[in-house]
Amino acid sequence: MSLDPLLAVSGLETHFPVRAGLMRRQVGSVRAVDGVSFSIGRQRTLGLVGESGCGKTTVGRSILRLVEPTGGRVHFAGTDVRATHGTALAALRRRMQIVFQDPYGSLNPRMTIQAILEEGLVIHRLGTAPERLERVRRALERTGLTAAALERYPHEFSGGQRQRIAIARALVLEPEFLVLDEPVSALDVSIQAQVVNLLVELREQLGLTYLFISHDLSVVEYLSDEVAVMYLGRVVEHATAAALYRAPLHPYTLALFSAVPRIDPAHRRRRLVLTGDVPSPARPPAGCRFHPRCPLAERVCREVDPPATAAGGHLVHCHVAARELERAGGDADSAAAVVADMMASTPTATLAGGGGS
Ligand SMILES: Nc1ncnc2c1ncn2[C@@H]1O[C@H](COP(=O)(O)OP(=O)(O)O)[C@@H](O)[C@H]1O
Ligand SMILES: [Mg+2]
Repeated sequence: MSLDPLLAVSGLETHFPVRAGLMRRQVGSVRAVDGVSFSIGRQRTLGLVGESGCGKTTVGRSILRLVEPTGGRVHFAGTDVRATHGTALAALRRRMQIVFQDPYGSLNPRMTIQAILEEGLVIHRLGTAPERLERVRRALERTGLTAAALERYPHEFSGGQRQRIAIARALVLEPEFLVLDEPVSALDVSIQAQVVNLLVELREQLGLTYLFISHDLSVVEYLSDEVAVMYLGRVVEHATAAALYRAPLHPYTLALFSAVPRIDPAHRRRRLVLTGDVPSPARPPAGCRFHPRCPLAERVCREVDPPATAAGGHLVHCHVAARELERAGGDADSAAAVVADMMASTPTATLAGGGGS
């Protein structure tokens, strides 16, 4: 086993042009992803969380170059993804697959399940027709469906079964890495657990590495080794799942996590609520991007973009958390307790403008 991460993302930027007027001139840009760095070790799962619109999907799509990043670096198994073209890029794409949220929109209704699953093999010119059929059957069976599904069409299946088909389509190319973009968010709660358990089984059986994108924090905790929290195109906190859920350091993480009901009374927190709207990624605030909504914001937060501070398995971008970490001699748990107390003693309003998904 190699110690190098399977995926290393550094300073990733994906800006979309904003055009206006008769000549469709570019008048600005949406900074959907604006300097994101993380790495994922082989057979590990990184959860990516944050409110709707913070850039999670764009991160996933940028890694696979389904959208072109405008800056930064992406390395997959040692290969510079952004510098790869033509057949080399096609070969990389076989090794990195994506499963989308919507099991209804992502499967072509006019194609049989066999044709849907075979498509990638045909595009990549892999195997003879009987070999392809064998691989399609194997992928389908791995997801708990039988060969009886092959001749049927997507509308004949339930939402959960369709998502299994979408997962089988990703597996047919025998990838090493999957971007799972809200793969269970559109499913009934009773079905979600089955699909989550399938993803866990597949990860173990096939030695897969996942980037698991979700706004469901309980599912992320269950599946992830590490979790990165995004806000307005940036990662504001990144830690092991255990450290992050036990002791979040960033005020945004605290607010996000306080909305999750916890059964364990030792970890029960007051529901924190944030004021103000999520600012537009076309005009991100100066200083710390979270400062207009942060109850702990100080002058420095309005003026200086907080650098990363590392302690106790966390990486956090926050002036207040950095100061409390320093005071606590780097003890992330006690610093987190201080930040949580500060948050709890601020007056509250409503988490406005952060809804939707
Ligand atoms: N193709 C695009 N063109 C312009 N803006 C986009 C495009 N895709 C996403 N965005 C914008 O980028 C931001 C991040 O979107 P997205 O990555 O979908 O967030 P999330 O998945 O966290 O909800 C949003 O403001 C969204 O409107
Ligand atoms: Mg999304």
